[in-house]
Amino acid sequence: GKVAVLLGGRSSEREVSLMSGQGVLNALRAQGVDAHAFDPAEKDLCALKTEGFARCFIALHGRHGEDGTVQGALELLGIPYTGSGVMASSMAMDKIMTKRIWRFEGLPTPDWRMVASVADTQAAFAALGSPMIVKPAREGSTIGLTKVTSAEQCAQAYALAARYDPEVLCEEFIAGDETTCPVLGTGAAAQALPLIRIVAPDGNYDYQNKYFTDTTQYHCPSGLPPQEEEAIQRMVEKAYRTLGCRGWARADVMIRASDRKPFLLEMNTSPGMTGHSLVPMAARAQGISYEALCLQLLATATL
Ligand code: DAL
Ligand code: MG
Repeated sequence: GKVAVLLGGRSSEREVSLMSGQGVLNALRAQGVDAHAFDPAEKDLCALKTEGFARCFIALHGRHGEDGTVQGALELLGIPYTGSGVMASSMAMDKIMTKRIWRFEGLPTPDWRMVASVADTQAAFAALGSPMIVKPAREGSTIGLTKVTSAEQCAQAYALAARYDPEVLCEEFIAGDETTCPVLGTGAAAQALPLIRIVAPDGNYDYQNKYFTDTTQYHCPSGLPPQEEEAIQRMVEKAYRTLGCRGWARADVMIRASDRKPFLLEMNTSPGMTGHSLVPMAARAQGISYEALCLQLLATATL
């Protein structure tokens, strides 16, 4: 039947989602799938029903796309969709909620404070040390994020993050290797793909360096000792199952230089599928082409 690739949307990651969605759309069509673009910013989701769509591939990122709201609407419409369900999507969108759950389960995540003012942010800086990350709790692609290295920067960093989300968190910065690890599958069958080690210009893997420059280096194979990589893969699988993720996701992990301890930053339940994106890169390293990945994900669409 007809497949809708949900793309665009109203979040601040709209631009990224349009790139992801176009990639997925082209790949599915090339494989003979009757796939159509559907932008929920332009059309009511109810049209999915009236226009006879049988399944949805969710290529939306951020709010109203990755956070359980669209998933809930599709549940009500009775249209199977790719990726995590309502609760896992909603928990993973919220970095504070995610960290609480991981910490409760004994999974390592950098120390943090939830802040609601500039004064809170300054207090967090005093407690967590320098550098400190200030970011909106429910954003993606490093939008609204600042790496703070002095108390004077706290006011601006808080204001920037709060512009995107009233919920803001301050997080201890882990100096070391920046890595990411995709997971495919569900439940006991969930399996981590190879890690990607990211080396961005000046250590700034920001919006620009994620999607628009060609100066970021991606290492896959990661070059990490196999035992270290395997331990991180098992940790990421547990982090994925703990949140109840389904289909696919991608965990961002920092490895502390001083003692090689890995720390989970967040789980992305609707990872980027752009030409620069990481899940397709790790899949390729495992012998799964972009087209095959899209087909495989579509096959997992469920209610
Ligand atoms: N939030 C972006 C799309 C990602 O995690 O890939
Ligand atoms: Mg993210």
